Amino acid sequence: MKLSNFPNTRLRRLRRSEALRALVRETKVEVGDLIYPLFVVEGNKMKQEISSMPGLYRLSADLLTKEVEEIAKLGIPAIILFGIPQKKDEVASLAYHPKGVIQQAIRAIKKVTPDLLVITDVCLCEYTSHGHCGVVVDSYVDNDKTLELLAKTALSHAEAGADMVAPSDMMDGRVKAIRQALDGNGLQNVPIMAYAAKYASAFYGPFREAAESAPQFGDRRSYQMDPPNWREALREVEQDIAEGADIVMVKPALPYLDVIRKVRDTYDHPLAAYSVSGEYAMVKAAAQQGWLDERGIVLEMLTAIKRAGADIIITYYAKEVAQWL
Ligand code: PBG
Repeated sequence: MKLSNFPNTRLRRLRRSEALRALVRETKVEVGDLIYPLFVVEGNKMKQEISSMPGLYRLSADLLTKEVEEIAKLGIPAIILFGIPQKKDEVASLAYHPKGVIQQAIRAIKKVTPDLLVITDVCLCEYTSHGHCGVVVDSYVDNDKTLELLAKTALSHAEAGADMVAPSDMMDGRVKAIRQALDGNGLQNVPIMAYAAKYASAFYGPFREAAESAPQFGDRRSYQMDPPNWREALREVEQDIAEGADIVMVKPALPYLDVIRKVRDTYDHPLAAYSVSGEYAMVKAAAQQGWLDERGIVLEMLTAIKRAGADIIITYYAKEVAQWL
């Protein structure tokens, strides 16, 4: 490469006006890239604000219908659902119950907005009494016993009409188990978006309040990834792809841009990044104090996540972004 040859080369020439800048812009955030997370509770007329995530609510299925109409109208193509059941037990029974909170929500949503993509988070932590993402045996989350329940859960979501399932548990072999369960029941066209490189992150704090899913003992470090590792992230992604993942995900997003870039450079699969609850809460809190320009910060964050290589961004800011763009 030639060294820049000033004054022939003046990089500022292409920055002189917004029209020029737009012409040479390398990365764009579009509403069509976004997925909006929703928290669903059982019951009627329930609208509970999540204190650590101002502007976000836990909604019952009846109120959800108005919400999804608004989301669809804004041009947001997809939502991802998280359920908070009325009862929790050791084996997450309500995660795969045909009349569970998510299964009912999917049916309600599909009636009003059939074209809005409904993705479901497949995990057990919201449904287990101990708050872990799988079956606990002697204080350890048993991998293989958990697979069967995850597959049942994903299948029940797809049978209720989910367009895509997204396992977030970080058990080994879950994508394969889910793919087999779907294929064995005529649901071979339902894609899997795997939370492939999901780190054991402090950035999930507000979510655990929202979903009432904090572990009652210990932490998730024996299944979620150790934050210092990036080579291991590539092995996780490779494994999920080998097992049949259609879309792979890196989570959280902003503190893991290097991992997003590595995955993008290594694999050709569509890549999602989850800008998690802690990322939302940090910006929201500072914005509420008047300490930063919320719109500017959020659009810059999302642009950075796309520039790092993500195709799809899951963000609690999706509705606001759709209005800003
Ligand atoms: C469920 C799950 C979590 C998140 C998404 N799915 C929490 C966790 O793993 O503890 C976090 C999302 C967020 O923080 O926004 N396992």
